Amino acid sequence: MDYKNKHIVLVGLMGAGKTSAGRQLASLLKRPFYDTDLEAEYSAGLRISDIFEIYGEPTFRELEEKVVLRVLKENEPSVIATGGGAYMSEKSQKNIAKHGISVWLNASLDILMDRIVTTAHRPILQQGDRRETLKALIEKRYPIYARADVHINVDKGSATTMARRIRKKLEEAS
Ligand code: S3P
Repeated sequence: MDYKNKHIVLVGLMGAGKTSAGRQLASLLKRPFYDTDLEAEYSAGLRISDIFEIYGEPTFRELEEKVVLRVLKENEPSVIATGGGAYMSEKSQKNIAKHGISVWLNASLDILMDRIVTTAHRPILQQGDRRETLKALIEKRYPIYARADVHINVDKGSATTMARRIRKKLEEAS
């Protein structure tokens, strides 16, 4: 599994550190960095919360699938941080497997709770009990994230440390 010519696609739950570790990894590997949440916002001209509120979650998921495919089709290998729900789409899973290497940033509930400071682009966490919502998402999504090519436990360390560990793991798997 040679990652050098492939996009590295970070998947995992909100708060796992996909965006912060992804930026660091892109800078370590001197690659472009994409964040599919930001790309979806640019493409809709709306914030994620507004997309959910005005058009509903299914419309956001369709947009997300398109954005994921668009960045995967860029020729230059990049690092892509996906939104927490992106990898739930079978279509995106296939596209990611075709054009990239998927890396699951696996974090425990306590760590996710600690790391989630803002819910601005996370309408799913804006209502109800955050811990309960995350717990339910862990049960539902972790078996799916587990399909990713590479798994990294990200309970410890800064974004830079995580990025170095991801690079090491990718080197080892190559
Ligand atoms: C979502 C995660 C968010 C964002 C949207 C939905 C999810 O991205 O895409 O609020 O379903 O888990 P982050 O994982 O970057 O917070």
